[in-house]
Amino acid sequence: MSDERAIHIRDLMFSWPGAKAPLLEIRALALPQRSSLFVAGPSGSGKSTLLNLIAGVQTGYQGSISVCGQDLSALSQRQRDRWRADHIGLVFQQFNLLPWLSPLENVVLGCGFSDIRKRRAVERDGSVEAQARRLLDELGLGELSETQRDTVTLSIGQQQRVAAARALIGNPPLIIADEPTSALDRDNSARFIALLKRECESNGSALLFVSHDTELAAQFDAEHRFASLYQSTEIQRC
Ligand SMILES: Nc1ncnc2c1ncn2[C@@H]1O[C@H](COP(=O)(O)OP(=O)(O)OP(=O)(O)O)[C@@H](O)[C@H]1O
Ligand SMILES: [Mg+2]
Repeated sequence: MSDERAIHIRDLMFSWPGAKAPLLEIRALALPQRSSLFVAGPSGSGKSTLLNLIAGVQTGYQGSISVCGQDLSALSQRQRDRWRADHIGLVFQQFNLLPWLSPLENVVLGCGFSDIRKRRAVERDGSVEAQARRLLDELGLGELSETQRDTVTLSIGQQQRVAAARALIGNPPLIIADEPTSALDRDNSARFIALLKRECESNGSALLFVSHDTELAAQFDAEHRFASLYQSTEIQRC
């Protein structure tokens, strides 16, 4: 575990089976721990595919992807699933909350498959539930942790913040967010990103954030844009 960067990609090439050209060619991309990277690009340019490669959901690439010091190709599928649960908090575009569970229960589920994250939550806040309450409170949803019995009736902005708390619980070293602000207006997007960044900083998590909206880039430490399909690019921050 000598490479302590949150993400370190070298000579990555990824093609879908049968495709004429590679979708992704990235010579170098490094995200230091505790820093934030904004990734933008047109629809179909491979942003979600890149996130899935980094999260170990998608395999079959050439080159090297190391996340929090772990070379993903050295893990079996089962080990990757386990490793992801321990190290990565995911915020999806559609949030993927369980609508019949309360906000608090949804947030607690973020630790459901990881003893390491449960332990970190207990060490920091006394219990997993206490950390879930703290995160909801810090994200402006404190009242919901006591009274709200389901998530289906929450507004989009509220669901988004519940999803962020679920990703953050148990202090995973890397948060990956795939277009989580696409349903929000500009003010609410900016507010949500500020919240997410603040929580990542206080948690010590690195943040990889994908969006179409390049005007959001200024809020991040570094930026990577897919200018077009099949672009080869380099980002090296450390
Ligand atoms: N399972 C798959 N098999 C084959 N091709 C795929 C698969 N998933 C995605 N693709 C193709 O890969 C390309 C990139 O898709 P991807 O979802 O990564 O783009 P994106 O940049 O996230 O787009 P968007 O902004 O619309 O979310 C697209 O052309 C898509 O059709
Ligand atoms: Mg996408």
